[in-house]
Order: sequence, then structure tokens, then C-alpha cells
Amino acid sequence: MYPQQIIDALRHVRYPGNGKDLVEAGMLEDDIRISGLKVNFSIIFERDNDPFMRSLIKSAEQAVLTYVDSNAVVEINPKFHRQTASPAAESPLSDVKRIIAVSSGKGGVGKSTVACNLAVALAQQGHRVGLLDADIFGPSQPTMFGAEHERPVAETVDGRDLIVPIERYGVKLLSIGFFVDASSAVIWRGAMACNAVKQLINDACWGPLDYFLIDLPPGTSDIHLTLVQTLRLTGAIVVTTPQPVALADARRGIDMFRQDKIDVPVLGVIENMAWFTPAELPDNRYYIFGRDGGKELARQAGVPLLGQIPLVQSIRQGGDDGVPVAIQAGHPAAQFYEQIARQI
Ligand SMILES: Nc1ncnc2c1ncn2[C@@H]1O[C@H](COP(=O)(O)OP(=O)(O)OP(=O)(O)O)[C@@H](O)[C@H]1O
Ligand SMILES: [Mg+2]
Repeated sequence: MYPQQIIDALRHVRYPGNGKDLVEAGMLEDDIRISGLKVNFSIIFERDNDPFMRSLIKSAEQAVLTYVDSNAVVEINPKFHRQTASPAAESPLSDVKRIIAVSSGKGGVGKSTVACNLAVALAQQGHRVGLLDADIFGPSQPTMFGAEHERPVAETVDGRDLIVPIERYGVKLLSIGFFVDASSAVIWRGAMACNAVKQLINDACWGPLDYFLIDLPPGTSDIHLTLVQTLRLTGAIVVTTPQPVALADARRGIDMFRQDKIDVPVLGVIENMAWFTPAELPDNRYYIFGRDGGKELARQAGVPLLGQIPLVQSIRQGGDDGVPVAIQAGHPAAQFYEQIARQI
């Protein structure tokens, strides 16, 4: 075996966070050591909690076995550009394992519906889940969770007054919609909105969580930047509908997370409203907004397609009634969210 063979093999491995191969992405350290059938090298990750670390190391090992020598003994050392600053012990999110933003470029593509049902599906699968509605100007989670009339209370924890998230369907939830009516938030200036979001994160007792989902407002605003700067996001999910106008915006959304200063891995794309099937013709699919647009976007951006969700009347109804389909056992639409939850 020669180092060049190893390098060529690793060109077959793509880093899902930016779609580039390992070599092109500059992730291969210049330290390949070969002795007999043993090969040892390092892969450099941006930070020590990279969500793709395990799967990438496995793929790199597999590439050496496939393209160089199936009997090779491969040892890969992960290295990190920076260590994640461990959140201060008193930070309310210090016990949160994964922080995932649900975003879209365009408005109205179904982010909030996805965030709500995904949170419920993850909780159904036994995970501890929190959901923050960060859409200050158009909060929809209180309605989607049937919790418009909830008023969260404060609790004193270690001398600090913290907001207690409300709990519904196994999900801990906070939204600015619990505190102000939407019409008064609309006139807030950007800084006020950002502070409100920060408070919902830092001044709440979220407790230990496996997943903390954030339902973002549409587009690429100050709120997005604040969140990215306030939190160490594990990754972002981009929701889109299949038609070209939505895809162009979704692409900008993906690019925002990939900017050098932001650098949040994109976990994948969800194509929403992918087709319509009328209840009386269950085998027919009508591609109202075009076909496979989200799938194609994922391919072009080099990120996983996490799932395609059809346009289903009961998904809309579940949102308006505050009973998400993901909680309705055996509902045919619930399976789409279950599958995506497993993928994540
Ligand atoms: N798969 C679906 N089938 C049927 N209706 C859906 C589906 N996904 C979302 N909807 C409906 O489409 C509308 C918009 O969805 P939603 O509010 O989730 O979008 P959004 O991207 O969060 O919007 P905004 O940009 O305003 O925050 C809602 O009425 C919702 O119930
Ligand atoms: Mg929304």
C-alpha cells in the first residue's frame, strides 16, 4: 500500500456537512503511516461534537478496504480544530445533547408543521425532547400543540427565576406566543426580538434533553444569526416544497449555514407537500408543486434527503386542531414523521 492509494480511496468519501470529499474538504491530515497491512491516519473535524464523525470514520475505513486492500487493518484518529466550549455549568442547555434548527428559505413551506410532528415523533420513540418556537413574529407552535391558553410559570432554581416550559405530547415547549399576542410582537425591533429568543433559551429550565429542536422564522434574519451565535447548533434541517421558487430560497438557506462564520452542518433536506393523494383514490399521486424538487436539491447540495412528506388534509387539520398527526396512533401520515425521526 502507498499513501497515494489511501488518498485516492478517500476521495470517494463525502462529508455530508458540505458535500465535499474528504481530501477536497481538507479533512485528511498529512500523517498517513503504513506498515505491512496496517494503515493509520487522522481525519480533522471542525469540532469535537461533529454529528457526522462516527459515520464518516466508518465510511473512510470502508473506502480503504474497498479501493485499496480488503485485508487492510485501518486505524483512524479523529482530530479537532477546536474543542466545543463546554457550556457553563449553570447554563440551562448544558444538559442538552443535540440542538437542531428547523429552517427554510421561503415562508409557508411547512417548517412549523415539520418541527411539531418531528418533536412528537422523537418523543414517541422514547427521546427527551424540547421545542423552541423562535418565530417571534408569527409563532405557530402554541396552536399546533393545542396550547394557546397556556401561561408558563416561573420557578426558582438555585436562586434564579427560570421559566418552566409547558409539556404536551411528551415535548417541552416554549414560544413567545405564550407571553405576548402576535400582533404586538410584530412591531418589535430586531434587537428586542433577539433578546426575547435568548431569554427563552437561557432563562428557562429545559433540563436534560436528547433533542432540542428550534422552529426558526422563514428566511435568513437577525434571529438566525443570534441563535447561531448564542448556541452551538449540532445541525440544521432545511424544509422545502418541490417548486423552483421554494428551492432557490432553500438553497440560500443551506448556503447560510455553510458560511465560514456560521459553519453549522446541514443534516439534510425534507421535501414537504411532495405530492397529493386524495382519500378516495389512495393509489394516485398528483405532483401539484412539481416532482422531486427537494430530492434534487439534496443531491445538488450533497446533503441527505431526510424524507418526502405528501400534502395531506389531516396534517393541516392536526396543526389547526392542536392534535399533531404524529401523536395519532396508526394514522397513515404519522409514518412519514416517524421515519424522518429515525433518520435524524
Ligand atoms: N404536508 C402537509 N400537508 C398539508 N398541509 C400542510 C403540510 N405541511 C404544512 N401544511 C399546512 O401548510 C400551512 C403552512 O405550514 P407551516 O405553518 O408549518 O409553514 P411554515 O413554513 O412554518 O410557515 P412560516 O414561514 O409562516 O413560519 C399550515 O396551514 C399547515 O397546516
Ligand atoms: Mg412557521
